[in-house]
Amino acid sequence: MAVAALAQSVHPVGNIFKPQATPAQSVYSLSMLVLTVCAAIFLVVAGLLTFTIVRFRRKLDDVHEPAQVYGSNHIEIAWTVIPILIVFVLTMVTARVVVAIQNRHAPADALQVTVIGHQWWWEIRYQDLGVVTANELHVPVSTAAKPALTFLKLESADVAHSFWVPQLSGKTDLIPNRTNSMWIDPQQEGTFLGNCAEYCGMQHANMLLRVIVQSPADFEKWATAQRLGTPSDSRVEAGRATFLSLSCVNCHTLSGTSASGTFGPDLSHLMSRATLGSGVIPNTPENLRAWVKDPQAIKPGNLMPNMQLNARELDEVVSYLSSLK
Ligand code: CUA
Repeated sequence: MAVAALAQSVHPVGNIFKPQATPAQSVYSLSMLVLTVCAAIFLVVAGLLTFTIVRFRRKLDDVHEPAQVYGSNHIEIAWTVIPILIVFVLTMVTARVVVAIQNRHAPADALQVTVIGHQWWWEIRYQDLGVVTANELHVPVSTAAKPALTFLKLESADVAHSFWVPQLSGKTDLIPNRTNSMWIDPQQEGTFLGNCAEYCGMQHANMLLRVIVQSPADFEKWATAQRLGTPSDSRVEAGRATFLSLSCVNCHTLSGTSASGTFGPDLSHLMSRATLGSGVIPNTPENLRAWVKDPQAIKPGNLMPNMQLNARELDEVVSYLSSLK
């Protein structure tokens, strides 16, 4: 039931024509205005052209040269001034939208999140909550009664990436040695898909992002669960020991253990996430096993090598990872 409900609330393709947050709504309204103005210009130009072609077509018996008209101050002023006015209006309206989005100040109760682009996954850090995760950005829903703004600091660990969740905001680049910002106030619960929108290497297309918009209570529940350390479960003790003895720990962090690598995603609550490899496959037990066995077969070129685990190590590591709820 829960799985079916989750599947239903997934918005599979981010439809830019159905904005669900203020920045996306502003961009959408502006686009509609520009589209309407351009459509009107097209209709006027194409209409006059068609009218002229039909009305002033050369008759079969017409042997005279048409009257030759050179220059008309009125017409030339008109077709210079009108386009300038149109461009001026569109420029001002665009500037207003850009400024309204960029200059929005974070209210004191805004959720602050840092999103760091990596080849090819998203590191997500909630400094104030003490939560670190990957590829899934959980945020509370914003309602008229209780507005909830999430401010994003966008950074990159390697090359330029771009944060884009079409229904929530426009694209904002993540650039090395620079911090960009964006904010969202999603007004509908559910899962919104986003993707990297700046070519960043061979797995650029598999750098998917999920924004999970939850009721404030569900969001709190999620954050509380993410803050818990990894439980020590006696049934997976062997797997835990194996994991910590392997070089997995050089790249991955597991809160409450000696594993503190930061090259790869934090695995502390791996099983709470819906996908593996930044959206490349669903996070199922079979897929997890296939991923740990040979990540290169699933996402060629990604930075996790085939660790050449033997069958016993693979079983133990996968059973341990499966316990990280
Ligand atoms: Cu990251 Cu494209």
